[in-house]
Amino acid sequence: MAAAAFGTSDFIVVANRLPVDVERAPDGTLNWKESPGGLVTALKPILSARNGAWVGWPGAPDIGGEPIPGEDMLLMPVKLSAQEVEEHYEGFSNGSLWPLYHDVIVKPEYHREWWNTYVEVNRRFAEETAKVAAEGATVWVQDYQLQLVPKMLRMLRPDLKIGFFLHIPFPPVELFMQMPWRREIIEGILGADLVGFHLPGGAQNFLYLASKLAGYSTSKNSVGVRSKFGVVTVGFRSVRVGAFPISIESAELSATAKLPETRQRARGLRKELGNPEKILLGVDRLDYTKGIDVRLRAIGELYQEGRLDPERHVFVQLATPSRERVESYKVMRDDIERQVGRINGDFGRVGRPAIHYIHRPVPRRELLAFFAAADAMLVTPLRDGMNLVAKEYIACRNDSTGALVLSEFTGAAAELRQAYLCNPHDLEGVKNAIDEAVHQEPEEGKRRMRTMRRQVLQYDVDRWARSFLQTLAGTVDETPA
Ligand code: ADP
Ligand code: F6P
Repeated sequence: MAAAAFGTSDFIVVANRLPVDVERAPDGTLNWKESPGGLVTALKPILSARNGAWVGWPGAPDIGGEPIPGEDMLLMPVKLSAQEVEEHYEGFSNGSLWPLYHDVIVKPEYHREWWNTYVEVNRRFAEETAKVAAEGATVWVQDYQLQLVPKMLRMLRPDLKIGFFLHIPFPPVELFMQMPWRREIIEGILGADLVGFHLPGGAQNFLYLASKLAGYSTSKNSVGVRSKFGVVTVGFRSVRVGAFPISIESAELSATAKLPETRQRARGLRKELGNPEKILLGVDRLDYTKGIDVRLRAIGELYQEGRLDPERHVFVQLATPSRERVESYKVMRDDIERQVGRINGDFGRVGRPAIHYIHRPVPRRELLAFFAAADAMLVTPLRDGMNLVAKEYIACRNDSTGALVLSEFTGAAAELRQAYLCNPHDLEGVKNAIDEAVHQEPEEGKRRMRTMRRQVLQYDVDRWARSFLQTLAGTVDETPA
């Protein structure tokens, strides 16, 4: 790797995806559409104040290479070939790391070609970042697709301040040790000055591996939430390790859900669903970690046992297509669609399905209307780093009605203790949680919802970004934020 010349950006986000959707028009020209998300909205003020840049993959092969000046930031699209997308994104990221870090719900595959391409693509991200970064800039690297970037970037640009945040769970040592390139990954992440996880448990797992696998000296105290950071000593550097649970734009969502047009659409949805007594809702990427199969099985049995009535209780599952070229995702889609068909065959009638299943992304406004309409939200992942859907639902319940059924195996469960918590591996437990949520006493429901709303409104995505970046800048004291 050649030493890079300095760029002009003082703050750079490096993520697998750019915050844009790119479309190729019939005449071959490219249209870039900004795609808003919690992360980009939270970081926009910092990006525009600090000459910011975002380095990422534009979402389609063979596009990019040249920087694109934007309103709030410079976009740096990293060009990947179709084969690199197949081996870095679909292969090593989503066929090896994703299942390994999510409790091996499906069996991870380890292929040397995938790994080699992962190294190569991480190197390209590091090089592109080195080109745009001003001297002494702050760089924030995001997620499991880019775990080698911190070390590669430090080698190119030792002047930079580098943060790394993992958006998915960091697994226990017993699982992580499967990874053939385990030491390289730990060393890659340790190129950062600050390493962030959602939960103290992930931070603790990482510290243990930094010591036992990579042989570094580490602090022994337990890590807190936004406090009591761990330390790994890497040569003359100290790498801090902490827990920073991510969140959403809570106030913005709450305000949008309150708008007359959103409330009207929520009433419209209820009517279109046949004015059921209770609407149950699931909203997920179609991913095997989300436990969509678990909740379908639970609902089928609750209909069967008469604890739910398909005439009065309808279930809506919104499932965004995701990673459709990865084999395990194809298998899961078939399985889920078979289950939906079976339940509707057993319990629906003409014009009145028991389950409404939409396999398309739903526009944001429409999604908020669904949250505002739903009497019970079912979030039942087998493992999830955080789960923003749970927080989004809470933010949209302005009148404190509604109920959240939440898997204990999500990061969100650490903060939303008043949800109807369940173990997704215990089907009777999931059924009982759904039953209780649907049949809760209104006062009990409000008590729970008010507490959860206080949590979600107070700890929003802005607070998450600030707590991480202030810690990275070394300006935070160690009392909980
Ligand atoms: P993950 O990052 O694993 O997909 P999260 O729950 O943390 O899971 O975040 C998912 C994001 O995608 C949320 O902002 C959610 O609103 C959005 N989303 C999920 N499913 C849909 C859908 N069917 N239509 C539109 N947006 C969706
Ligand atoms: O939360 C993990 C994550 O991979 C994010 O990095 C990403 O925004 C989201 O899931 C969707 O995944 P993908 O980019 O593979 O569509």
